[in-house]
Amino acid sequence: MRLVDCGLRKELSTLHLVDLGNARLLVITGAGVSAESGIPTFRGKDGYWRNLDPAKLATPEAFAKDPGLVWQWYRERRRRIRNAQPNPAHQAIAKLAQHAQEVLLVTQNVDDLHARAGSPKEKMVQIHGDIFVTCCSRCDFQRSDLEHDYEDIDVPRCPRCEGLMRPGVVWFGEQLPRDEVRRVENYLEAGPCDFVIVAGTTATFGYIIDWALRARANDGKLIEVNPEETPLSQFATQQVRESAAIALPRLVDQFISRRNFL
Ligand code: OAD
Repeated sequence: MRLVDCGLRKELSTLHLVDLGNARLLVITGAGVSAESGIPTFRGKDGYWRNLDPAKLATPEAFAKDPGLVWQWYRERRRRIRNAQPNPAHQAIAKLAQHAQEVLLVTQNVDDLHARAGSPKEKMVQIHGDIFVTCCSRCDFQRSDLEHDYEDIDVPRCPRCEGLMRPGVVWFGEQLPRDEVRRVENYLEAGPCDFVIVAGTTATFGYIIDWALRARANDGKLIEVNPEETPLSQFATQQVRESAAIALPRLVDQFISRRNFL
């Protein structure tokens, strides 16, 4: 797909007014950003929720009913993510994070591909959790299972209280992690953003739209990178109807070269 008309070029030609070093940016990503690393999306073509029922795999009730089935699905996803590599979209966002002083990446993705591409932890919020964290469903014990899985154990038990361990992700019907929401809110409260980039998400959840809209300064830009239209598209100052791995490297390079040009 092509860059939607020459509007983006026009948009970018105004960037010389903003020194990237001083610009505030918010980047919001979703499953589409990892799609080109071979990780299925949820609602897209071949997305998980096209063939699987989230009520049976991604709710506290599903876990209570059949924790073994839920673990089977999460182990398979962990395996797939471990075998995947960050793509140019992850790399471009990491580059942006390294060049811009004030940037926050809010990702709905539970994979570790942003981190592996080099996005620093302190500039990233995983708002739906981390698939490689295993936490107790009863006490506050948790561990990282980044390197290995307890493959031989159907449903792991907490070494502290013997409760059932579960993946450290947010399921339907659960609250978002309070500390992570606070980090996003703190960033928004600290000042408006010159650029808000939303890439690879259907923006299904109200808080994603809310953060994107609230973050943008009156004269700021809201750039959506997504081959498809979403509920956020109507609010975007620029719609880039391309894949993230194609559009983001170009977009970021243009940001950075403008900065160097100053
Ligand atoms: P979705 O699967 O809902 O949406 C993926 C979006 O990515 C769609 O809008 C696609 O058009 C777009 N897309 C696909 N390929 C792309 C590409 N190569 N480049 C850019 N965009 C592309 O995924 P999310 O919006 O992330 O939550 O879903 C949000 C949440 O719903 C997930 O975090 C997950 C899910 O249920 C939980 O598990 C709590």
